[in-house]
This record gives sequence, structure tokens and C-alpha cells, in this order.
Amino acid sequence: MTSPKEDLRHHGDVDAAPGLADFAVNVRVPRPPKWLRDRLKIALDDLGRYPARSADQAGREEVARRHGRRPDEVLLLNGAAEGFALLPNLRPRRAVVVHPSFTEPEAALRDAGVPVERVLLEPPYTLGEIPEADLVVIGNPTNPTSVLHPREKLRQIKNLVVDEAFMDAVPGEPESLAGDENVLVFRSLTKTWGLAGIRAGYALGDPDTLAKLAHNRPQWPVNSLALEAIKACCEERAVEETERLAREAQEHARHAAELLGDLVVVPPRAPFVLIKVPRGTREALRHKGIAARRCDTFPGLDDEHLRVAVRAPEEFAVFADALRVVMEELR
Ligand SMILES: Cc1ncc(COP(=O)(O)O)c(C=O)c1O
Repeated sequence: MTSPKEDLRHHGDVDAAPGLADFAVNVRVPRPPKWLRDRLKIALDDLGRYPARSADQAGREEVARRHGRRPDEVLLLNGAAEGFALLPNLRPRRAVVVHPSFTEPEAALRDAGVPVERVLLEPPYTLGEIPEADLVVIGNPTNPTSVLHPREKLRQIKNLVVDEAFMDAVPGEPESLAGDENVLVFRSLTKTWGLAGIRAGYALGDPDTLAKLAHNRPQWPVNSLALEAIKACCEERAVEETERLAREAQEHARHAAELLGDLVVVPPRAPFVLIKVPRGTREALRHKGIAARRCDTFPGLDDEHLRVAVRAPEEFAVFADALRVVMEELR
């Protein structure tokens, strides 16, 4: 198998070098809100104990309630990224990955020797015919294009795996497949709640698929703090707060897109925006102390694309102003 020309293991955290204003990483807040930090502080007192089965069960029950599923249709994970690393356990003979998209699923499958066929979408990155495979991986909404695919279209695809790491930033989650029985869905708590360092996410799917996925995981796979975070973030008040934050993120995205004007490739449906800019823009922004996510590591994109994290208007103005100056200079 030939190796891909892109560095599939490059992620925004590498672009966001210390000291730069970070528009590269899509985590929406610098730290969890106080109520969540307080919950985690209480959990700290129990760190002398191994993570309890009852905590895993309680977490699965809360997630199940949130998505209208049964607890045995939930697998708690060290972030959605762990779910991608476990995909080879499903023993696909051939996988299809729809790009441009987050590259970890393809990297994990390739590392395990699974043949991967890429489907490269063209702007505006809407879904066309998708070839059949044992696994078809799609992000929704998709990082880095910020496109939200309609669920009716996704439901036509067999053996579907949907990366819904950013779905909680879409108000009302109208296109989510989290409630569908025949789909494997990965969700993340990283972005909305500022939990990147804890690694907290989960999978939703049929119990047989989840059992296969979890084969050979170590004993106590998810630490106590992550278990507490998953439960806390799926409780009713947190879900209400998620919805409020999603509406706010949508407003911020609309505002960011307005400021960026013609550079925007597709109107953003997630809290980041894909822009097309002259070559050298990223490096010039970096010289001005600003980090944006390079896109030449995403199959189907190149160094004329940047992904920019959406922030509140006053913060986003810093990016928009610097970009305006850089574009003048590059002219
Ligand atoms: C689209 C997408 N899916 C999944 C992940 C990983 O999520 P987690 O932090 O839950 O492992 C990321 C992280 O950048 C992402 O952008």
C-alpha cells in the first residue's frame, strides 16, 4: 500500500505554537466552565480508587438518555479519537473515507493495514454517490469544510460511521444520526466544554458492534475524571447549556463569515470556517503572532486553504484585521 503524501497525523495543536493567538484549534473555550471544574474537583478526591464499573454504567445511562438510546448502545471513550483508533477491530476488508475531513480515521485504518479508498468531494463539498465498503467514514458537520450533510442522504449509505465531534455545536442537531440504530456514531465532549486534556467522548451503535470495537481495550480504559465529565456533560442542564452555546456559536460563525466575505469557501455550519487565500498567508499571519490551521494536510485541499476557528466577535476581529493587512501585503 502506498503511503499518503499528506501528513495525516498533523493537527491544529501543532499550528497553535505557544505565544500565538490561536485560531487553529477548534476547542471553543480555554477551560471547562466553573460548574464542570467543580464536579471534576469532587472527582479528584476519589483518584485513589480504580474507575468503578458503576461510574461507567452511570455515564452510559446519562449518554443514553441524552440521545434516546439504551445504555448497552453506548461505549464511553477517551475522546472520539480513541474510537477511530479502535475502528480496525471491526475488521473491515476495505474502507471508504470521505474527504476533505478529519484525518485520524484514515490514519488509524491505514496503520492497521486496512485498504482505504478516498472519496474526494469538490466545493461545495456536498455528498454524491459513495461507493460501497465495509466501513464508510464521514464527518458531520465536517472538519475542515464546515459543511453539514443532510441525514436523509447519509441514511442511504451502508456500514456508515459518522464522526459527530462537532454536532453539539449545531443548534437542535437536525442532521444527527445519534438516534439511528444501524449507524456507528462518534461524539466528542472536547470542543464545547474545553476538555481536550481529559479525553472524553463516546460511541453510539448496536451492542454487537460496540463489543467488537472495544475488543482488547485495557482494563479500566476510561479514567475517573473523564467518566465524571461525560456524565456531567450529558445531564439535562448541561444539554440545555449545550444548545445555548450552539446558538451562540452559530451567531459567531455567521458574523465571522460576513467579515471574511468572498474568502469563505462554503457558509460555515460548524464553529470554524474554511477560507481560500493566497499562498503564504498562513506564514505571514504567523509572523504577526496569529495561528490558523494549515489545510495542505487534508486530502483534497492545499496550501491556498486555511481553517479558522470561530470566536466571539471582539476576538475574531483580531484575526480579520491581521488577515486584511496580510492580504494587502501579499498583493
Ligand atoms: C472532526 C473531529 N473529530 C474528532 C476529533 C477528536 O475528538 P476528541 O478530542 O474527542 O478525541 C477532532 C479533534 O480535533 C475533530 O476535529
